[in-house]
Amino acid sequence: MRWFYLIFDLVTSLALIIYLGFLIFDMLDFIIKKIPPLPTFSSVIPPLLKAMEDKEKKVFIDLGCGTGRVLLAVKKRYPETQVIGYEIWPSQFLRAKIKFFIRGLKADIFRKDLFKADLKEADIIFCFLLTSFMKKLEGKFQQELKSGAWVVSNTFQFPTWKPVKIIPTGKKQSGTLYIYQKE
Ligand SMILES: C[S@@+](CC[C@H](N)C(=O)[O-])C[C@H]1O[C@@H](n2cnc3c(N)ncnc32)[C@H](O)[C@@H]1O
Repeated sequence: MRWFYLIFDLVTSLALIIYLGFLIFDMLDFIIKKIPPLPTFSSVIPPLLKAMEDKEKKVFIDLGCGTGRVLLAVKKRYPETQVIGYEIWPSQFLRAKIKFFIRGLKADIFRKDLFKADLKEADIIFCFLLTSFMKKLEGKFQQELKSGAWVVSNTFQFPTWKPVKIIPTGKKQSGTLYIYQKE
């Protein structure tokens, strides 16, 4: 019986150490990258799914997918769509993976810097980032996206690229969807 308690102690201590490690790493990441892991509000998702109805959507990418809330909603509504997420924050990445795993749904979620994402197959890119990111991403999108591809940005706009559609979702803050189309 003593062995049992010893092993139990070891396993729980190890789990705690790993968890604390993640927490510290996450906090450091947040301090360095200064982008909060705030998910898209649930009320913003139905207008997003509606806007996607008539758009080709074989490949949907969420850049900075967080816990996978948007990816999951897209996969549930459009099961044929391949959903891809890039997330740098370990705990967010793991939560997204677990979310899909327990539902038995398929998603390609990478723990990778979104600036290194492969975008050439994307039909729709979703992002909920910050103005500073939009500045950097505009060039990447112009270079890498195929013609006709959409970028849907929650709240933040590009410095020069003009949206083809603006969807107010009723949320005063962190709610408006800006849709851009690559020429
Ligand atoms: C505001 S949250 C949005 C999460 C999700 N897209 C949503 O709308 O629910 C932004 C996410 O981007 C992630 N992120 C920030 N910088 C990143 C980077 N360079 N590469 C990948 N993910 C990043 C953050 O960790 C965070 O989870």
